[in-house]
Amino acid sequence: MKMLNVALPKGRLGEKVYDMFEKAGFPCPSIKENNRKLIFENQEVGVRYFWVKPSDVAIYVERGAADIGVAGKDILVEYRPDVYELLDLKMGKCDMAVAAKADFEDDRTKTLVVATKFTNVAKDYYGSLGRDIDIIHLNGSIEIAPILGLSDVIVDIVETGTTLKENNLVVVEKFMPISARLIANKANFKFKSELIEKIKQSLAKQTEN
Ligand code: PRP
Repeated sequence: MKMLNVALPKGRLGEKVYDMFEKAGFPCPSIKENNRKLIFENQEVGVRYFWVKPSDVAIYVERGAADIGVAGKDILVEYRPDVYELLDLKMGKCDMAVAAKADFEDDRTKTLVVATKFTNVAKDYYGSLGRDIDIIHLNGSIEIAPILGLSDVIVDIVETGTTLKENNLVVVEKFMPISARLIANKANFKFKSELIEKIKQSLAKQTEN
């Protein structure tokens, strides 16, 4: 039997997503065993799961190494992978936001310095406002940048707001709601459309509950 390859985002969200796939009729009990393995398959139902970094899911799917996967809308907007976005799973909800020190005041006569992991998102957002910016691309711990004077603001994901609060930053504006999406490789979707549609329907039903 041809296996369905599913890229899951490593972490709590991925585990929840696996549970939904299990309910959809694609169990793979060995995945629950606590070990460092990254690939799990159940030949009986024809599914192979692999855990990848959340930001890498779209790469596996775009290149066809995975038929389907679950990726955050933030990654899809930032990297624009050439994949089908099949379903909003309404999980992993957070917001893309601008944040700064509480006393920050925007001086529109100056170029705004923005630190972010999401360079394209930041460019598009400020572009739509007609605001000149200078982008500093960082890979994590973005919240430190304004504190040390590396940037004026940051563009980052806010979920509970705890990271900002604990680093004395405030939200300036939330401008894009984010959630997890089911995505599919375009070519593989043609060959496995029936199966993928079936999974999509089941996941859609589960997200309604
Ligand atoms: C994200 C984001 C914030 C934090 C927001 O980081 O970059 O730092 O979560 O969550 P909160 O509002 O609930 O505090 P992540 O944990 O993905 O780590 P990273 O810094 O490596 O990106």
